[in-house]
Amino acid sequence: MTDAKQSEHPQTNQPGNTDDVVANDANTTEQPEGKKHHRPLRSYVIRASRLTAAQKEALANYWSKYVIEDTSSPLDVQSTFGREAPLVVEIGFGMGDSLAMMAKANPHLNYIGIEVHKPGVGKLLHAIEAEQISNLRIYCHDAVEILQNCIADHSLAGVQIFFPDPWHKKKHHKRRLVQPAFIEKLKSKLAPGGFIHLATDWQHYAEQMMEVMESAQGFHNTAGQNQYAQDTGRPETKFERRGQRLGHGVWDLLFSVEPPKS
Ligand SMILES: C[S@@+](CC[C@H](N)C(=O)[O-])C[C@H]1O[C@@H](n2cnc3c(N)ncnc32)[C@H](O)[C@@H]1O
Repeated sequence: MTDAKQSEHPQTNQPGNTDDVVANDANTTEQPEGKKHHRPLRSYVIRASRLTAAQKEALANYWSKYVIEDTSSPLDVQSTFGREAPLVVEIGFGMGDSLAMMAKANPHLNYIGIEVHKPGVGKLLHAIEAEQISNLRIYCHDAVEILQNCIADHSLAGVQIFFPDPWHKKKHHKRRLVQPAFIEKLKSKLAPGGFIHLATDWQHYAEQMMEVMESAQGFHNTAGQNQYAQDTGRPETKFERRGQRLGHGVWDLLFSVEPPKS
């Protein structure tokens, strides 16, 4: 989700205007002269988007209170939340409504939302302050880097990624977040018994998610092999509602990390 207009028009969610910078190698972009230059291939594109007055105000007033600004050092859970509790990370929370609902419904958990879309960060900051949600903090940065730099190994109770950008065109599939290497990285961050909850409204991506998750070692599909999860209790997200208006289906996948075999 990159702006309000986009969220109403799925075809514009395809980053069609980035064709010229997307190459078929995950870590390089092809230059016109044929020179390659290394730059990470991101799972998002930051577009200029308008902020509402409330979002601007929230970004100005609550950023330093709830956004974790150090994106290069390990997270200090105790000083960030004022307590230790099982930690759940949501990657790409969009406008954050469903994450705020989950944090309020589960006061025994600490939540971290990671999102690069400033209007969404502003919206969630507003909700955190207005509803006094004490167990939720934000990183406004690339989730891949946050996992690498800030999240200790085997420290997470769960990771949730709801309706990640589908990157519809085949030549853009390498930008999809759910890939074998990324799932391996997530596994290294999860504590034994931790979960990965994925959802998408794009069937091809759902099938890819299932293939990647079923092929990854050390996970258990809580719904049964190759089965999508039903009734997970996940609140509906904004992107999901948009998909429903367009007649899309919804696929949830809920996997847990298997305890080490003794
Ligand atoms: C299609 S939207 C879905 C938003 C929300 N989960 C929902 O269902 O309404 C995907 C979101 O993931 C964010 N995103 C994608 N890749 C990301 C990354 N590497 N780090 C942080 N956010 C990312 C995008 O900015 C976008 O807001």
